Amino acid sequence: MTTEGADVTGVIPQPRQMAPHDGGFFELGPDTRVVAGGGTERTERWLRATLGAATGLPLAPGEGDENVVRLSLDGELDAEGYRLGVTPAGVDLAGGGPAGLFWGAQTLRQLLGPDAFRRAPLPGRSWRLPLVRVEDAPRFPWRGLMLDVARHFMPKEGVLRYLDLMAAHKLNVLHFHLTDDQGWRVEIRRHPKLTETGSWRARTKYGHRASPLWEDKPHGGYYTQDDIREIVAYAAERHITVVPEIDVPGHSQAAIAAYPELGNTDVVDTASLTVWDTWGVCENVLAPTENTLRFYEGVFEELLELFPSEFIHVGGDECPKDQWRRSATAQARIRELGVDDEDGLQAWFIQHFDTWLAERGRRLIGWDEILEGGLAKGAAVSSWRGYAGGVAAARAGHDVVMCPEQQVYLDHRQHADEDEPVPIGFVRTLEDVYRFEPVPAELTPAETGHVLGTQANVWSEVLENQGRVDYQTFPRLAAFAEVAWSALPAPGERDFAGFERRMAAHYRRLDALGVAYRPPGGPLPWQRRPGVLGRPIDGPPPNK
Ligand code: ACM
Repeated sequence: MTTEGADVTGVIPQPRQMAPHDGGFFELGPDTRVVAGGGTERTERWLRATLGAATGLPLAPGEGDENVVRLSLDGELDAEGYRLGVTPAGVDLAGGGPAGLFWGAQTLRQLLGPDAFRRAPLPGRSWRLPLVRVEDAPRFPWRGLMLDVARHFMPKEGVLRYLDLMAAHKLNVLHFHLTDDQGWRVEIRRHPKLTETGSWRARTKYGHRASPLWEDKPHGGYYTQDDIREIVAYAAERHITVVPEIDVPGHSQAAIAAYPELGNTDVVDTASLTVWDTWGVCENVLAPTENTLRFYEGVFEELLELFPSEFIHVGGDECPKDQWRRSATAQARIRELGVDDEDGLQAWFIQHFDTWLAERGRRLIGWDEILEGGLAKGAAVSSWRGYAGGVAAARAGHDVVMCPEQQVYLDHRQHADEDEPVPIGFVRTLEDVYRFEPVPAELTPAETGHVLGTQANVWSEVLENQGRVDYQTFPRLAAFAEVAWSALPAPGERDFAGFERRMAAHYRRLDALGVAYRPPGGPLPWQRRPGVLGRPIDGPPPNK
């Protein structure tokens, strides 16, 4: 038998094949040894640190055939695939590569039961594994989560925690939205005011921008370069790539507040700007000057030293052109470059960094607006304004990550009820996310090859702390993980009832992990935000 058997243990995301064997179990105990083959070091470390803490067992290194957890690599499997066998003699876990092995270890943890997700053992627990054989590999190589740490800062501990939560769901790309109008969150040594001035604001709009409420206290924070190195290394231990985003030329008021010469000084008094304290699309954008390019080359130079990721995200979304229309400097630049208009100016800006990154062996990725001016072939697109950007990108030969706002913006409300906290955007339930299909139906097989994968985006305008981020992200990230990992049938044929049955086990895991998810019955009293204005958008998702 295959997938039905998965319901017994509730593995999420659902493995490709899972065949339970009747009549027995293997129990991890104090004498269980870990037999670790070459190339398995990261998973071995993780097992001892994480499962060791949860079980209180030493999981000591050793040899032999009985009472062992055997870790190995098997080049016959996909690099991110794994094979997991549990027999009365022990656990045999083989990965196609180190990443596959690690994902297999995540399945093993789930099979041990919810208490394997705690940080210390509860008294009297035993660690029985059902006898089972699992063969598994992901559907997509890019299984992402975007965290917006700019609108509300997420302290480093919170980011490390989210990396653990991602790993538990076999997600492998953290898109780290580090800068926006409301905050600059990464130390740049040559431009210290980006964080001295740009990393905090005096007060913050509470709720949607039309809300009359303010949180009248300073908000801020940033990651030092050593914090970033720690985050990147912690992610790499978990086979997660961190893709940093520096958003240009829009979403830049925090940078302009720190360095007013970056703004359009001939049309705005940029010296009087502060880090933005409310939400929406901000008109204060970067000036299209050589000075701005040099400044950001310096930013990206430091960034490349910190982030080994092939992809570097440059934003490119929502850049209002009004200031450029009014600015004599911008207009002179249009004439000088021989571009048609302000859109051409934005394309020139993005293309500059496209080339600049390519010359340094990296690849640019940006929101789908970057398609508007034409891009080098190596650049990739995050398709957020529905499917159209993804379709256009794939047809033009660009790789694409599907993250349409109508489906996988997890800051959007997950129920139509009035007591849903700060309801913004579309109603997207757990089932809606479960039924999301990342690959646009109209693509040919060759074009489909450009879909690197998919990503859920968690914008934080109305998520002021970890509890709010957890509430919006979970349980929907579990459904999203299954969309990104499992080769699910067509959206209409997906077995949501079966997923819900497996979620019964998964909620217990999230409880053990301390995740403040939205309970199936709706928010707990302290998860509500009575009287804080949101901005609901009505209507069904466009692909339904
Ligand atoms: C976006 O939501 N502005 C990418």
